Order: sequence, then C-alpha cells, then structure tokens
Amino acid sequence: MSKDVIIACDFSGREEVLNFLDKFSGRKPFVKIGMELFYAEGPQIVREIKARGHKIFLDLKLHDIPNTVKKAMSVLRELDIDMCNVHAAGTSVMMSAALEGLTRPDGTKPLLIAVTQLTSTSEERMQKELLIGQTLEETVLHYAENAKNSGLDGIVCSPLEAASVKVRCGKEFLTVTPGVRFADAKADDQVRITTPMKARELGSDYIVVGRPITEASDPVAAYERCIKEFMG
Ligand code: C5P
Repeated sequence: MSKDVIIACDFSGREEVLNFLDKFSGRKPFVKIGMELFYAEGPQIVREIKARGHKIFLDLKLHDIPNTVKKAMSVLRELDIDMCNVHAAGTSVMMSAALEGLTRPDGTKPLLIAVTQLTSTSEERMQKELLIGQTLEETVLHYAENAKNSGLDGIVCSPLEAASVKVRCGKEFLTVTPGVRFADAKADDQVRITTPMKARELGSDYIVVGRPITEASDPVAAYERCIKEFMG
C-alpha cells in the first residue's frame, strides 16, 4: 500500500498556488485542493495542476441526496483526480451512489474516502447538538464501518484514531489524517495533533499537512522533513 504526504494547498487563488508549487522544482508532491481554491478558480485549476504532474486529492466533502451526489461525482471523475471525498453522515445509500457516480465506464475510479466526524467537532457538541449518544470514538469507528461496507476505500480521521480504525476495518482500509505538526512547531487551530513520525507509528496511510509546509520559511525543506519522518 502506498504511503504519502499530501500538501493541503489552502490558497485563495491560482497565482498563489502555482507560485507555491513552482518552488518544488523537480518534485511533484501529492496535493490537496479544497473548497476555497476550487470555488475561487473552478475545475480548470484542477486540470492545470494535474497537467503539471501532481496527484490530486479533491477535498469537497460532498453531502446531499444520493442522486445529486452520484451526478456530481460523475462530473468530478472526468477531472482525472486521484482521491475525493464525501461525508459519511450522508449514510450508506449516499456513499454507494457516490461510488457508482465516480466509477468510470472502464471500471477505474479515484480513491473515495469518507469524512467521519470533523476533527473540529467536540464530543460534547456532537452529543448535545447532533443528538448522537455514543462517544466520539465509537461514532468515528461506526461511520468508518459504514464507509467500508459501502465499498469506499477509507476515511479521513485524526492520526490518533488510525490504529483503532485499522483494527475495526482491516489494514487495507485507508486512513487519511490531517492534524500533523512537527514536534517543535505551533499547533495553530488544530487540537488533536501528532508529528509525522508518530502518525507513521499509528498507521496513517496518508498525512495531510498544510500550514507547517505552506507557511514555512523554506516550504521545500519542510516537505522533505515530513517525507523523511513519515516515510522513514
Ligand atoms: O494547515 P493544516 O495542516 O492544519 O491543514 C490541514 C488540512 O486538512 C486543512 O486543509 C483542513 O481543512 C483539512 N482537514 C482537517 N481536519 C479534518 C478534515 C480536513 O484539518 N477533519
């Protein structure tokens, strides 16, 4: 199974993201394009970055009725992305529809992963506002099982949950984990964080790293450090 560092390219526009990627002369990091950049620049920015040779995780977190998600996914599959995602809260019917829409006529498809509970949601809010009576961990594990049973490839979770997800869903089930910081760096707004090395020990398959790379004085060196710590 391939492990990799995915750079969260949380930039507001084309010029910023391309200037950033130009620093990586020779290397072609796996990048994540989120809502900010996608809504600002549209699908063309995905095509442009793909044409430069990068793998792309399109992080749009779809969550709607199954038919709408299926049709949206059949549009996204034409972008030649490598990974995309939905909210597991849309239930297994929506996840199965997403998978159907994403699968190309020749049977190939990008990796499809599910967001379980956002890492910004506390257990207290989940229980009080969403009326979910279980613990946060049990909810994440149950959503992961739903995703697996719907045929998805994995989930987004905290590295701290990666090991128990592997126990529940099997080691082939992918864990894609944000919330990564170097041991000597600030946490920003992330709460449940680990270092790249710890994420590797805990069984993450892909770490998603944004500001520790994008805001570093030397982003290429920060990326190389992540690769070295995470991939060994
Ligand atoms: O800058 P930082 O390393 O915190 O960026 C993490 C990235 O992962 C951001 O793009 C954020 O939106 C995303 N993410 C997250 N937690 C989730 C899902 C996605 O931090 N549960």
